[in-house]
Amino acid sequence: MDKLAKGIQKAGIPDAKKHLFICLGPDCCSKKEGEVLWEFIKKRVKDLPVMRTKAACFRICRDGPLLVVYPDGTWYSKVTPARFERILKEHILGGQPVNEWVIAKNALGCSAVVKPTDNP
Ligand code: FES
Repeated sequence: MDKLAKGIQKAGIPDAKKHLFICLGPDCCSKKEGEVLWEFIKKRVKDLPVMRTKAACFRICRDGPLLVVYPDGTWYSKVTPARFERILKEHILGGQPVNEWVIAKNALGCSAVVKPTDNP
């Protein structure tokens, strides 16, 4: 296996069911809050078919840490480790977004993966 193929495998692309992007600040939240959340998410999704990527900034710059879950394009604000635990159980594993914390939805044209009843 060449280096590119190994990298693709290591990133989890072939098996991924969800991809999480997380802004860790420094403008939407403190760097410390962001890093605490990042370390928690890394630990919690380690053995799941879930990719996670740090985003430098979503240009929202408030109410962070911010999290977007793809392929459904569900955006969450003020994500703490405790909130992420519920998002993980109910949305990422259970398929039902935690609507009380959802700030936006846009599946970027992948309408087949979003049920009309999922829209807030
Ligand atoms: S710093 Fe997080 S959205 Fe800009």
